[in-house]
Amino acid sequence: MRHFLTINDFSKDEILEILEISKNIKKEAKKKEYKPYLKDQVLAMIFEKSSTRTRISFEVGIYQLGGKGLFLSSKDIQLGRGEPVKDTARVIGRMCDMIMARVYKQSDLEDLAKFSGVPVINGLSDDFHPVQIMADYMTMLELGVSGKVAYIGDGNNIANSWLMLASKLGLELSMATPNGYEPPKNVVNIALENAKKSGAKICINNNIKEAINGANVVITDTWVSMGQEEEKQKRIKDFSGFMVDENLMKLANKNAIFMHCLPAYRGYEVSEEVFEKHADEIFLEAENRLHAQKGVMVWLDKHRNVK
Ligand code: CP
Ligand code: NVA
Repeated sequence: MRHFLTINDFSKDEILEILEISKNIKKEAKKKEYKPYLKDQVLAMIFEKSSTRTRISFEVGIYQLGGKGLFLSSKDIQLGRGEPVKDTARVIGRMCDMIMARVYKQSDLEDLAKFSGVPVINGLSDDFHPVQIMADYMTMLELGVSGKVAYIGDGNNIANSWLMLASKLGLELSMATPNGYEPPKNVVNIALENAKKSGAKICINNNIKEAINGANVVITDTWVSMGQEEEKQKRIKDFSGFMVDENLMKLANKNAIFMHCLPAYRGYEVSEEVFEKHADEIFLEAENRLHAQKGVMVWLDKHRNVK
């Protein structure tokens, strides 16, 4: 059985295979053909943090695949009152067919995977947001964009998952973060190791201009992730100069696209002008969450009995 906890657990071929399934399912969906690939399956969706896109896309996605989503806010289930993750996992595993969880700790996802006996999908943790990055890359493929990807901002879960994807697929990824907000060393080391095999070009420093120069894709994310609300004022100060605005976008290639996982905070990580100019790309990226994740669910179901 396989789980979707981090992109690093997948080979290049597997990532591309999932995206191929996603692309085909999207094509069918556009013709209103909803094939019941996961007929009567129930997806338990645990949320320890807020969500708009992840909740909607998984709930709609499993429904369109012929199954049903069960929304479980940790506030409303015993998990939020201290019932151990491993007990929650064993209960869900006996009644549901798959789990999607949005949690703080990556280790909680690993426990869900270890104890539930059903495939588990990471719907965002403090460390990674792999389903988001699958949708990002699906969007790039759909728009026919390749070449240098620039990530400007916090070395957070989005940055980490981008490092995993780029290093697995052999892409060029240039990342600029403020001093002290670099991605964690262990993640960077994995990415650099992967890059040796894949030929990826990974560059991480504090130089925004160098990162964005010649990029075909520009990506940013909030400066204050969920759970970091108390650091907001300090972060706003520390991220000064890191807003992606028109002046910065001029350094990227002429037809560069801009992506943002959302929610976006205008006037902080991105200017209103850049956001609205690239709204079509950003909301295609948001829509592709639905299709990319259907691909992930179908792929995991196919590998349910593979050792
Ligand atoms: N991008 C993303 O995961 O959005 P939500 O937090 O709204 O799910
Ligand atoms: N880095 C953000 C992503 C939100 C989808 C967070 O973790 O809050």
